[in-house]
Amino acid sequence: MSKILLETLKGNPGERVPFWFMRQAGRYLPEYREVRATTKSFMEFCYSPEKAAEVTMQPIRRYGMDGAILFADILVVPDGLGQNVWFEAGSGPKLTPVKTAGDVDRLSLNDFHDKVGAVYETVAKLKHMLPVETTLLGFAGAPWTLATYMIEGAGSKDHAAARQMGYRNPDLFNRILDMLVDATAQYLCRQIDAGADAVQIFDSWAAALPESVFDDWVIKPTKAIVDRVRAKHPDTPIIGFPRLAGLQHIRFVDETGVDAVSLDTGISLDWAAAELQSKVCVQGNIDPHLVVSGGQKMVGEANRILDALKHGPHVFNLGHGFVPETPPENVALLSDTIRNYRR
Ligand code: CP3
Repeated sequence: MSKILLETLKGNPGERVPFWFMRQAGRYLPEYREVRATTKSFMEFCYSPEKAAEVTMQPIRRYGMDGAILFADILVVPDGLGQNVWFEAGSGPKLTPVKTAGDVDRLSLNDFHDKVGAVYETVAKLKHMLPVETTLLGFAGAPWTLATYMIEGAGSKDHAAARQMGYRNPDLFNRILDMLVDATAQYLCRQIDAGADAVQIFDSWAAALPESVFDDWVIKPTKAIVDRVRAKHPDTPIIGFPRLAGLQHIRFVDETGVDAVSLDTGISLDWAAAELQSKVCVQGNIDPHLVVSGGQKMVGEANRILDALKHGPHVFNLGHGFVPETPPENVALLSDTIRNYRR
């Protein structure tokens, strides 16, 4: 049986629009909270192949998405490079910030695959657990988004520390980006070796960067990763997600060479159909907060998105991840709406 998500990502859409959702495994599901409660540290949870594989499967069992996204976190990569990463309840990720050349010197790829090896085990387990028609998605954070966490030492609103290092000390900043390109390309290749059918690169904080640095901080590092992954795995689709990048999506698609682009909630669909979907598969983009609210408004919006993107390859998804307050029954209604739609 063929995998309709994988085929659509390769530019061969069928009658039905495939779907999966960012953060489809997560706190909105009671069965996720139950497994999550068995491990105190979130990073340790990400490095527990059995539990990570189990929570990856949970939404597939409930809703039958066409894609299962590996359960892990983008901050596994800085952790694998030797940075301290931990999660504090209620305040999100924390890292020992990278500020100086000495801090960068302490990071390396030497123990990387040993440290993150449990993630490859999760992928290998999933390969055996998933229905044959379900596409297994690997993922990583893009270098720019990872750098914002690594330099700030936490999530931040305007990414001041990373932007200022990028302007003030480009040599140091580029050393960080180069190391992330190298680690991420290897990390994604290993996920594909272990069984991932496609991969997504999350650039969650690509918003509002000036054109001049969007090239150096977003496009070039992403292109370098795409080139390296494609050299080893020419048939594995790569999805880019330059969230909130506005008109710069056009250059992102033209210059990085991604096979598909994920659209945030604010993108105009007619524009995306004309400017992006004519070149690559598009993915998206219902507002996760509309899924909290649910009902006929959500169904109407899902149909608007499906209609607007029906003339080319489209993977239905959210414009950003599910929030914890999402009622599981709304996800069921959304899934049925997409599954029953015919192009
Ligand atoms: O289902 C899936 O999407 C797969 C797993 C996944 C997680 N994080 C699990 C997770 C994926 C693909 C990610 C990506 C991720 N992580 C991104 C990029 C996508 C995006 O949301 O923009 C980013 C920026 C992160 C960093 C991160 N991880 C933050 C900021 C947080 C805290 C957020 C919060 O709401 O508290 C996390 C923790 C995290 N990663 C959780 C999950 C399910 C929740 C923590 C928990 O369960 O204890």
